[in-house]
Amino acid sequence: MTSTPADSSPNQQQIKDWNGAIGERWTTNQDSLDRLLQTFADAALAAARLQPGERVLDIGCGCGATTLAAATQVAPGGLALGVDISAIMLDRARQRAAASGSAARFVEADASVTIPEGAPFDALISRFGVMFFADPTAAFANLLEALKPGGRLAFVCWRPAVENIWMTLALDAARPALPPLAPSVPDAPGPFAFARRERIASILDQAGFTAIEIAPLDTMITLAEAGTPAEAAAVAVTRSVQLGPLAAALREQPEHIRKAALALVQAKLETVATPAGIALPAATWIVTARRK
Ligand SMILES: C[S@@+](CC[C@H](N)C(=O)[O-])C[C@H]1O[C@@H](n2cnc3c(N)ncnc32)[C@H](O)[C@@H]1O
Repeated sequence: MTSTPADSSPNQQQIKDWNGAIGERWTTNQDSLDRLLQTFADAALAAARLQPGERVLDIGCGCGATTLAAATQVAPGGLALGVDISAIMLDRARQRAAASGSAARFVEADASVTIPEGAPFDALISRFGVMFFADPTAAFANLLEALKPGGRLAFVCWRPAVENIWMTLALDAARPALPPLAPSVPDAPGPFAFARRERIASILDQAGFTAIEIAPLDTMITLAEAGTPAEAAAVAVTRSVQLGPLAAALREQPEHIRKAALALVQAKLETVATPAGIALPAATWIVTARRK
């Protein structure tokens, strides 16, 4: 370990956010978010093709779900290390590893400027943890240095918001009750920073990666299981405020606006409930590349 997130990090705002309300929300809802996002951990791990004995670094590991799964794939003899800037999320990850007897390890550091102890790695993986760097090209150039020659990169990231109906349906329903939202800044650090395929390709190419492949993965996200439309919608409302743009839009709002917005979201989600629950389209990229 050469450093921890410190004042010199280029990602100060992210460090603040992920150690504040956003990190707390992810930690409080870790169980439910992990169920929601399980498909994407599976997809990133399948793309990484981990082998027993390998060393793998999980970038932006959060509460550790993907690191814990990776640890079983590299056993025996391997190393699964999760790196993150969020102390609260890492606490949860360490508790989970201890509770399950996992050999996964976790380190608090800014992955964009740090080469964690345990390098060089055979593989770098991430489930939605690489889109928050202030300077993504410099970050991936640093991450390349953490890989062995021939080492693999495999991560999953969101495609544009407009293709992720599971996030936008709720936000669009809430809009009439909310003050006008600031327009999103294209490519800014955040969930949709890697939405454009050509941007990902250019960043990885400039950072020195080779064999870059970017494949779409279209799935459905289950926001609620079976129930009456009202019951399913109530569950889906709860999940919609756990992550994504609705959660961000509601963060600073007074209670009466939140209430009005959530009533609109509930009504909208009831219209898409089926006897099997509420499942809406999710669009991601599965990205793989190598170090020469
Ligand atoms: C959307 S969450 C995903 C967490 C986890 N991978 C999962 O799928 O549950 C993004 C994660 O990236 C982490 N992160 C953001 N910027 C980072 C950085 N520069 N270095 C390390 N982790 C970072 C955040 O703290 C957060 O845990």
